[in-house]
Amino acid sequence: MSKRLPKSYYNPLSYAGTAIALIALFMFFFLYVLSSFSSVEQAYVGIVLFLVIPFFIILGLVLIPIGMWRRARWMKKTGEMPKRDYPVLDLNQPRQRNATIIFTAGTLVFLFLSAFGSYEAYHFTESVEFCGKLCHEIMEPEYTAYHTSPHARVTCAQCHVGEGASWFVKSKLSGVAQVWHTLRNDYPRPIPTPVENLRPARETCETCHWPQKVYGQQQRREIHFLADETNTQWEIRLLLHTGTGNPALGQAHGIHWHINQNIRIEYQPANEKRTEIGKVVLINESTGEETVYNNPNVEENDSPMRVMDCIDCHNRPSHIYRSPSTFIDRAIVAGEIDSTLPYIKMTAVQACVQEYESDEQAIEGIASYITEFYADMEVSQAKVEKSIQGTIAAFQRNIFPYMNVTWQAYPNHIDHMTTDGCFRCHNDLHQSDDGKTISKTCTQCHDITAQGPIDSLEFSQTAASLEFKHPVDIGMGWQEINCSECHSVPPY
Ligand code: HEC
Ligand code: HEC
Ligand code: HEC
Ligand code: HEC
Ligand code: HEC
Ligand code: HEC
Repeated sequence: MSKRLPKSYYNPLSYAGTAIALIALFMFFFLYVLSSFSSVEQAYVGIVLFLVIPFFIILGLVLIPIGMWRRARWMKKTGEMPKRDYPVLDLNQPRQRNATIIFTAGTLVFLFLSAFGSYEAYHFTESVEFCGKLCHEIMEPEYTAYHTSPHARVTCAQCHVGEGASWFVKSKLSGVAQVWHTLRNDYPRPIPTPVENLRPARETCETCHWPQKVYGQQQRREIHFLADETNTQWEIRLLLHTGTGNPALGQAHGIHWHINQNIRIEYQPANEKRTEIGKVVLINESTGEETVYNNPNVEENDSPMRVMDCIDCHNRPSHIYRSPSTFIDRAIVAGEIDSTLPYIKMTAVQACVQEYESDEQAIEGIASYITEFYADMEVSQAKVEKSIQGTIAAFQRNIFPYMNVTWQAYPNHIDHMTTDGCFRCHNDLHQSDDGKTISKTCTQCHDITAQGPIDSLEFSQTAASLEFKHPVDIGMGWQEINCSECHSVPPY
């Protein structure tokens, strides 16, 4: 083969560089075509395609000139090449012409490929698979819960990164630190929340849900099964006063009043998880009026105030971990657990609240707990078996033992059952100097339109709310103490 390239090219390092770059380039096209036709695990293909292969292409391309430079230096030493400070480019020489053509064409192709590659790589690193699967074990709870949430079609990045370059860069930088902790296997379990420096909800949630939108009222039908022999179905129907934040429409009341354009609420969390709240300051931006509510149970301190936004109520829009009592109720409604089995509600919940250290242990433990319970009873084995499978499936959607993820690790602030939620402020405790409190009056937030066992529901005959009737007799306990005092403790 006659030598058609500059002499300095002919050296082992440049050969190796060429081979690496060509093989990597070939692999890129091959894998790219393959991945567009198949449904293999996209996360892993993506890593190879957009992170590993480009690394080798660039490595190869860098090795070629290094080899040429070393070769030229050696040739100058031996006198094979005249000593000059700069190379002379003479296009009349075929060798140099070839080299120039290859270099120019190569550069153009490379630039085109990098533009295309970085566009694809950008989309890839913003994809749900990349976020949820790359750190498989760590993010599995978030990833699993996300897929059963109302936001299963919204990408992770739409909430966690949002639009614009600066948050993109911030998220990638913090991602690098996370990969480091993952490699060292020293990441915290569970992942700490609230997420530090989460992008303000105004810039993420509001790209899809604008606060002026009128929501009006929302009907809720909560279905419960009690811990008795017949698993009594107990229903509560609520009319939530979600309301609107649009003063132009004259309906600036209801739950979304907090995000009304004219309202600004600031508060001082009493702990890191924000499960207890100290001082609350209400500012009416249109009148400039300011009301300060102090919590007598929390000492004054000077930790920074936080401006209330969507996340202070909707902190679990996507990663919802339900309590056993709630997820078993749902599994019964879905038909995954057979409610004709005596005491199945109680038994399934008890099976789920035992301590388990791993998924495998949980599967075994739940199965043996339920099997044992029915061992001496005359019940259909098929129903028991089905209910065991249903309980395990529900458990696996909500509790992740190896990451210590439970409904208690990630309290949901949207209500006031297993955690104080709204009652962190609405507890009749927070008081202003002139004696105003943040009210716990039940009808402020919802009307109960029906409640009771399904076969003898009590309906409201007027527009007014029924008075709440607690499903089991606890006297008037629910009026004096917060629901969460009892309901945060398993098995309730
Ligand atoms: C609808 C918006 C939304 C989507 C979509 C979303 N997240 Fe989140 N995520 C949140 C919010 C809000 C928090 C917690 C905020 C807080 O309490 O500080 C959170 C918290 C987290 C946390 C911290 C641990 C925790 O549970 O609090 C991780 C990890 C996480 N998300 C990963 C993901 C991954 C991976 C995806 C995609 C599979 C995803 N998120 C999709 C809104 C979202
Ligand atoms: C990319 C668009 C998008 C973003 C960003 C987004 N959402 Fe949503 N959200 C949706 C869609 C779509 C639905 C489902 C509507 C439906 O089912 O009718 C939804 C539903 C909801 C619901 C109703 C849930 C239910 O039980 O039906 C709430 C509450 C909500 N979003 C809050 C939030 C919050 C809080 C954030 C910010 C952390 C957020 N969303 C970010 C698109 C988005
Ligand atoms: C950080 C404290 C805080 C939290 C948390 C909070 N609120 Fe409020 N809320 C307030 C304050 C302050 C007021 C005004 C009290 C007043 O002046 O009577 C208020 C008023 C209200 C009102 C009456 C608004 C109107 O129409 O005038 C409703 C309804 C309400 N809150 C519902 C809720 C619900 C539901 C939750 C939980 C999902 C919740 N709040 C969580 C601070 C809070
Ligand atoms: C004071 C607490 C609170 C704040 C702050 C809050 N929400 Fe809500 N929101 C609720 C409650 C309670 C509901 C009704 C229960 C539910 O849907 O889970 C609700 C319902 C919704 C729904 C569903 C409405 C429907 O009728 O389907 C959306 C969407 C929503 N909120 C978005 C937002 C967004 C976006 C923000 C921030 C701009 C926000 N919320 C701020 C408490 C709040
Ligand atoms: C500050 C607002 C607020 C106040 C005050 C309030 N609630 Fe609620 N309540 C809510 C919200 C929000 C939900 C959750 C709705 C949802 O998303 O499912 C809820 C849910 C409920 C449910 C249904 C729970 C379930 O899982 O079935 C009951 C029952 C209930 N509340 C009773 C009461 C009673 C009784 C009082 C008075 C002592 C009260 N609430 C006071 C906001 C409030
Ligand atoms: C003094 C303790 C206590 C308080 C306070 C309390 N509960 Fe309960 N609650 C119970 C017990 C015990 C049960 C029965 C558990 C069972 O049947 O599994 C129960 C059951 C329930 C159930 C049926 C749940 C199910 O699926 O099993 C609902 C709904 C309920 N309570 C709502 C409330 C609400 C709303 C409040 C606050 C307004 C409240 N409870 C306050 C002790 C309490």
